[in-house]
Amino acid sequence: MDIRLLRPSDIPLIQHANLENLPENYFLKYYLYHALSWPQLSYVAVDVSRPPKTPYDYPKIVGYVLAKMDEEPTDGVQHGHITSLSVMRTHRKLGIAEKLMRQSQLAMVETFGAHYVSLHVRVSNAAAIHLYRDTLKFQTEKTELKYYADGEDAFCMKLDLQPIREQVREAIAAEKAAAGGEASSSDEDASSDEKDKTGGEDVDEGEAVGDVGRDPAAKPKKKKTGKEAEVKVKVGRALGVGELVERVATKQSS
Ligand SMILES: CC(C)(COP(=O)(O)OP(=O)(O)OC[C@H]1O[C@@H](n2cnc3c(N)ncnc32)[C@H](O)[C@@H]1OP(=O)(O)O)[C@@H](O)C(=O)NCCC(=O)NCCS
Repeated sequence: MDIRLLRPSDIPLIQHANLENLPENYFLKYYLYHALSWPQLSYVAVDVSRPPKTPYDYPKIVGYVLAKMDEEPTDGVQHGHITSLSVMRTHRKLGIAEKLMRQSQLAMVETFGAHYVSLHVRVSNAAAIHLYRDTLKFQTEKTELKYYADGEDAFCMKLDLQPIREQVREAIAAEKAAAGGEASSSDEDASSDEKDKTGGEDVDEGEAVGDVGRDPAAKPKKKKTGKEAEVKVKVGRALGVGELVERVATKQSS
């Protein structure tokens, strides 16, 4: 089983899974809205035991989680929301839903600095309630009466993401420590050093791409020295996800 990010091309397949598994269904554009607005948060489970034979065959999607960030949180706290989750009957009780949920929760923290994740579940949905409350440790906040179109009540549940936030912070600190001396000088220091060497002028970071639009009479650029060509840049977490998290945390004060 492969748990991977949702791609826009998967959307018809997860819409099909949703129609098979749940009475709450959505227009295609609502899936697309999730995939384009928060591409980091929704995942699919793909059965790779029988891989597609041609590039035109569909992947066999057996589960999905569709998730988003709350765009205008009423409590002012940055948080995620699970819009829909389902696993095909043939693949249930294998831990797929748990994995999809954990993956999305991690992405909510890493990408958006989410403080908690919320969801609604039918009060009669024993399987989902077990997953959320007992396996993942969600708390029931309140019951929303007649939340669903057929009049059924919903439990409104929340999971505090603080433990994941701490794990992410520790992972970032460990990565920085492992990078050691190399990471000790910040990007700012490096760029100010470059400026000093060039008398305050910004250094061109790369060669022009192709000849289109280039003035044929213009002088060719001076070749870079080996030292200039090998400027080290930070990637991924070292870019400072931790700092983003802190910045979001200060928003809460309202
Ligand atoms: C709810 C659902 C997503 C669970 O998917 P799953 O992949 O079978 O769940 P997992 O295998 O990850 O199981 C997670 C936990 O739930 C338990 N569980 C799964 N199905 C259960 C059931 N029918 N009754 C009781 N517990 C159940 C598992 O035993 C496991 O518990 P454990 O951690 O104590 O071992 C799946 O049943 C489903 O798609 N249902 C229809 C759609 C739906 O209700 N979606 C949720 C909408 S809010």
